[in-house]
Amino acid sequence: MRASTRTSLALLAVPTALVGVAACGARPSAGAATPTPSTATAERATPSFPSGWRFKTGEVATEGAQAMVVSNSRQASEAGVEILRAGGNAVDAAVAVGFALAVTWPEAGNIGGGGFMLMRMANGQTAAVDYREMGPGAASRDMYLDGNGQRTNKSTLGHLASGVPGAVAGMAQALRERGTMSLAQVMAPAIRLARDGFVVDSALAQSIAGTRCNFLKTGGEAVFCPGGTPMAAGARLVQADLGRTLQAIADMGPDAFYRGWIADSLVAEMARGGGIITKADLAAYRAEGRTVIRSAYRGHTLLTMPPVSSGGATITLTANILAADGAAPAFGTAAWTHLLGSAYQRAFAERNVSLGDPAFVKVPLEKFTSPDAGARWRRGIDMARATPTSALETRTMNDGDNTTHYSVVDAMGNAVSTTTTLNGSWGAKVWVRGAGFMLNNEMDDFATAPGKPNMFGLVEGEQNAVQPRKRMLSSMSPSIVLDPAGRLLLVVGAAGGPTIITGTSQVIFNVIDHRMSLADAMRAPRIHHQALPDSLTYEDGGLSAEQLSALTGMGHRLRRTSALVNVNAIMRGPRGGWQGVSEPRRPLTNGAVGY
Ligand code: DON
Repeated sequence: MRASTRTSLALLAVPTALVGVAACGARPSAGAATPTPSTATAERATPSFPSGWRFKTGEVATEGAQAMVVSNSRQASEAGVEILRAGGNAVDAAVAVGFALAVTWPEAGNIGGGGFMLMRMANGQTAAVDYREMGPGAASRDMYLDGNGQRTNKSTLGHLASGVPGAVAGMAQALRERGTMSLAQVMAPAIRLARDGFVVDSALAQSIAGTRCNFLKTGGEAVFCPGGTPMAAGARLVQADLGRTLQAIADMGPDAFYRGWIADSLVAEMARGGGIITKADLAAYRAEGRTVIRSAYRGHTLLTMPPVSSGGATITLTANILAADGAAPAFGTAAWTHLLGSAYQRAFAERNVSLGDPAFVKVPLEKFTSPDAGARWRRGIDMARATPTSALETRTMNDGDNTTHYSVVDAMGNAVSTTTTLNGSWGAKVWVRGAGFMLNNEMDDFATAPGKPNMFGLVEGEQNAVQPRKRMLSSMSPSIVLDPAGRLLLVVGAAGGPTIITGTSQVIFNVIDHRMSLADAMRAPRIHHQALPDSLTYEDGGLSAEQLSALTGMGHRLRRTSALVNVNAIMRGPRGGWQGVSEPRRPLTNGAVGY
């Protein structure tokens, strides 16, 4: 594994970081059809990876006979396992992991951001909590434009970039509705980690070093960069203020955050830096229960997150496009890459103009969930030729990193899939003094200038324009897959901006269409297309010379990057139990812990 991969993952969602263009040449090779497996336990097939690819097939997953937690931080996964072993269910454990990540993975794990939690209980019930941030009451459509109508960096950096945080409200709501333990019980591991400290692993050390301690000067530097030196791997990190904050939430519930002294600290921080979040905004924040999107894909059931995440809708439309015309071409063929890339291109073209906060705009979800809509898009794909995004029929567009995903399965078979984020790495680079946590820069996920690209290169329309108390569109895609017998098969999600959608769904397609083991499905080379920029991104070494040549011949604009997406997943083992795989492109820590 290359030493630079962690950095690349940090950059991967930023199109300007993508490099290079590939070869040119011949016609596509026709792919052999892959049969659809009839059951979850159908024998797994070993894919063939290109000779230059960094991973081998046949690696093993972490096994758990009863339960599994996979996150980006081993200590946070252990916090989840501690709660499971103490008799908690998957929701209790997920909330424990969420709070622990705010301590052990502070560049993305958070209480100053937001996220989505998707649950499928062992009795078959499904539930979803949307705790996405909300625009402050004083937010306005053009607040991030300068006098010439150009985007400024105020939606990404500094106090104006933060939306009203949702994480505390959302996790508390999920716990109340589906958990079995108290907030104090599930927060105990996080409080301990903050107060007593924990040993910094190399992933966190790299992340802190990456900040150059610049933006932590508002108070965070004493914690993360004592004496101006970034905390090194092996050092003990104690976060006393954060410990007090978490204790207050554990004692008093979310009101401590939304109405009590933590709210006062946050608003005082806003006043220091010209931010606009008020106490009234915090008091008005509510997490929303959502109806899970349920769709069929080749005999399996996909359970995905509805708006204000775009993840579930876009994955569902992609799956509908793929399923509209027979079995998938074989993995590793130009035909598969072309079909998949073209399906993503179309699904994103629809996503970028149609989706927004359902409390503010009409969201035509049927354009994503209807198999007929998928079939219409599928008929427009020429298997020999790429289609320019400009030729696709959607309305015109006039009108790092970091996120973190974790998956939990308990011994009863309850499953939780959660993605949470500050948006950019370390969010708005604003530290709430006295309370010990970072604030998000999620306002950039609005179309701050509709029709112009945001920091992920996404070009979105009026549906997602800034409005007070509106939620910004997200790509986070916590997902759960059931096998044809209706049993839990896969719990999966990712970090990586819009590549979350493509990375998460490729693990799903690798398992369902290409019958890969989870270890192979996670290591298989990935691609990405988001309609605009109109290019097909691939991982260095992930496409064979023959594929590169065929795809270029079809007219794809190819972009090479070193690594795409940070996925964490759990899958039912072939002989029972659970397999966990944390992102292999990020080898610094194994975040899969089972028992
Ligand atoms: O909600 C979203 O779609 C983005 N804020 C996610 C950002 C992200 O994944 C950054 N990186 N890993």
